[in-house]
Amino acid sequence: MRQLYPVVLDDIDPAKCYEDPRRRQPRDRPYVFVNMVVSVDGATVVEGVTEQLGSAGDRYIFFLLRSLADGILVGAETVRSERYGPPKIREAFRPGRAARGQPPMPRIAVVTRSLRLDWDAPLFRDGRSTPFVLVPASANAERLDQARQVAEVVAIGEPELDLPEALRTLSAAGIHALLCEGGPTLNASLLGRGLVDELCLTVSPTLVGGGGGARIMGSSFLPEPIGLELAHVLEEAGSLFLRYLLPTTRTA
Ligand SMILES: NC(=O)c1ccc[n+]([C@@H]2O[C@H](COP(=O)([O-])OP(=O)(O)OC[C@H]3O[C@@H](n4cnc5c(N)ncnc54)[C@H](OP(=O)(O)O)[C@@H]3O)[C@@H](O)[C@H]2O)c1
Repeated sequence: MRQLYPVVLDDIDPAKCYEDPRRRQPRDRPYVFVNMVVSVDGATVVEGVTEQLGSAGDRYIFFLLRSLADGILVGAETVRSERYGPPKIREAFRPGRAARGQPPMPRIAVVTRSLRLDWDAPLFRDGRSTPFVLVPASANAERLDQARQVAEVVAIGEPELDLPEALRTLSAAGIHALLCEGGPTLNASLLGRGLVDELCLTVSPTLVGGGGGARIMGSSFLPEPIGLELAHVLEEAGSLFLRYLLPTTRTA
């Protein structure tokens, strides 16, 4: 992998770029970094899943970012469509986690309103790590009981989930660096409330056309455009790995 910005460097170690000392936790919530892959025309899926947008480099960055996280926030629709399992950390990244004082695995935190999740899936039955489920307090009582059998349920806000308060709860539980893996609906919920500090975006050298699903924030409008600061650009085999800082980072 090579770096194209801020200076051109051949054969860099991506870990050095992503382990940014500016990644400082805000006072009342975890540091939130979003990771998404898109085609050149902005598609986030091919035939409903991300697989065809990926590359070896993208998978490397995906696992590198996971290794930097204490928690992984993900929308319920992504859990359902991408068949999320328990988090895995590549062997090569384990010493780094230990050196940073992080537990061996990040914890998954699923955001849902409906609680329509497969509670028997390995994600909830693995036994090594208990996922969080973030849900409005007004959710269906029977499904809340089911969820509490296999997950740590954070039920906050009525009728809608109070996302800032839910993130504060994760922070109190030791989640200081929170990686959000999408999808677009969850990204929009977070970005619209100023709860994202960093955007890691892989641009896959692919055109997908109209069937490529939502853009990275779906069709949501922002009250006003958010200006981003480009932190770095890496490249491998035609894929671009962009890292942007949001204004929250500059004032934190
Ligand atoms: N290109 C990429 O990098 C990338 C990354 C991730 C996902 N994807 C793709 O994106 C698609 C899924 O994205 P999506 O936008 O449809 O769904 P999503 O963001 O993954 O999940 C949406 C669901 O999450 C829950 N949710 C989101 N915000 C919420 C809030 N503020 N309060 C309560 N619940 C909330 C709701 O769950 P309930 O429905 O359970 O109520 C909602 O229906 C999939 O096809 C996936 O493959 C692509």
